[in-house]
Amino acid sequence: MAKKKSILDLVKMKKAGEQVAWITAYDYPTAMFAEAAGMDMLLVGDSLGMVTLGYSGTIPVTMEDCISHCQAVRRGAPNTWIIGDMPFGSYQSSDEQAVDNAVRFMKEADTDCIKLEGGVRIQSRIRAITDAGIPVIGHIGLTPQSSGQLGGFKAQGRTVENARGVIEDALAVQEAGAFSILVEAVPPELTEFITKKLDIPVYSIGAGACDGQLLISSDMVGKFQAFTPKFVKKYAEVAEVETNAYKQYIKEVKEGVFPSDDYVYHITDPIEEFEKLFKEFD
Ligand code: KIV
Repeated sequence: MAKKKSILDLVKMKKAGEQVAWITAYDYPTAMFAEAAGMDMLLVGDSLGMVTLGYSGTIPVTMEDCISHCQAVRRGAPNTWIIGDMPFGSYQSSDEQAVDNAVRFMKEADTDCIKLEGGVRIQSRIRAITDAGIPVIGHIGLTPQSSGQLGGFKAQGRTVENARGVIEDALAVQEAGAFSILVEAVPPELTEFITKKLDIPVYSIGAGACDGQLLISSDMVGKFQAFTPKFVKKYAEVAEVETNAYKQYIKEVKEGVFPSDDYVYHITDPIEEFEKLFKEFD
């Protein structure tokens, strides 16, 4: 069984040029499969709102949703570094609110660190949480919780002016004490610059090569159907496999093919004894 990663391991991996592979997980079975596969880290993203709860975005997701899914993932992956994702409304009001909710992830869900979205504008939140002794992963570039302000789920940093903001955010996150940073949907040239500029590990989701890669599990296994971002490589078509299994089951139930003799529990006393029993109830 692989040993759970520590921050030190992640820094060593960056220095050694060893890539970190991580995905999102929201439930016990996915966590179990990912740990068995040897995943370096798991993010219990607030994307759970879209891919497991059926919302059209991440805004409705609550702390209770996140804590409950983190607990399930921890039960499935006891030896994996788990990141709790702070949902919209759990850190926007004040540094105190941010610390209180980050503490909940650590105490109630046994996560190893937390992630929150934003750079310059949430620098004091990151500082307050790290000062409380909680490791933080920053998240910049396309930040889904503020997609309304960004004009939708749009790639960031494609113009010089916009890239300047992304670089400033990256520097602010490092300066505030985050131990690593996730960059979402920015051009690879910008990610490369940020990775060279920062001392902390830089991870990408849809942002090209750096110190490691994240994908949304439901996207990469072909489970989430509403839309697939350009940066997603599909490694399986689970929705197709699952739907076909349900279709076949329906057919077999309707035709009386299921359950056949293989799928029932057989009596252990002689049938004559059972017939006597049934007669008692006639
Ligand atoms: O919630 C999530 O899964 C995320 C990723 C989009 C990075 O924050």
